[in-house]
Amino acid sequence: MSTTTTPNFTTRNDLDPTVRADVVAILNRQLAANADLYAQTKQAHWNVKGGNFMQLHELFDQIAEVIEPQTDELAERVAALGGYAEGTTRMIADASPLPEWPRDAVKGEDVLQALVERWAAYGAGLRTAIAQIAEHDDVASEDLLTGILGEVDKALYFLEAHLQG
Ligand SMILES: [Fe+2]
Repeated sequence: MSTTTTPNFTTRNDLDPTVRADVVAILNRQLAANADLYAQTKQAHWNVKGGNFMQLHELFDQIAEVIEPQTDELAERVAALGGYAEGTTRMIADASPLPEWPRDAVKGEDVLQALVERWAAYGAGLRTAIAQIAEHDDVASEDLLTGILGEVDKALYFLEAHLQG
């Protein structure tokens, strides 16, 4: 996390400034994970090959569209807390906890495995972040992340269903 060198802005929001600073750092990390996962899911959408190409191509686009609006929601929550949203491509690459996309994942099953690994990691990070924010009593940020987590869990189920049965 590199939020310590970024500005904080004054606000009449009544949360304690140290709480807001801690939550901003947590949210910026989730913002980076979210934007990284969006780009990696589109990478899968563009490059998957094989007999079930069209089904996977469309599924990957659908789940990418699920998380795309979350980027804006996370960034604007950071700003609402008086923080500085860290959303450029380079900031995201610097801060994302996710592993880089494997370039050799092209076959449908390999792409699915890589996506499952990354969507599960995003979900696990969200769950940890929710627990951390709950300790700070910032219910609005907790609620935002909880809503996002429900969508992420559902997308993970869609991905995993293709590898089971
Ligand atoms: Fe497309």
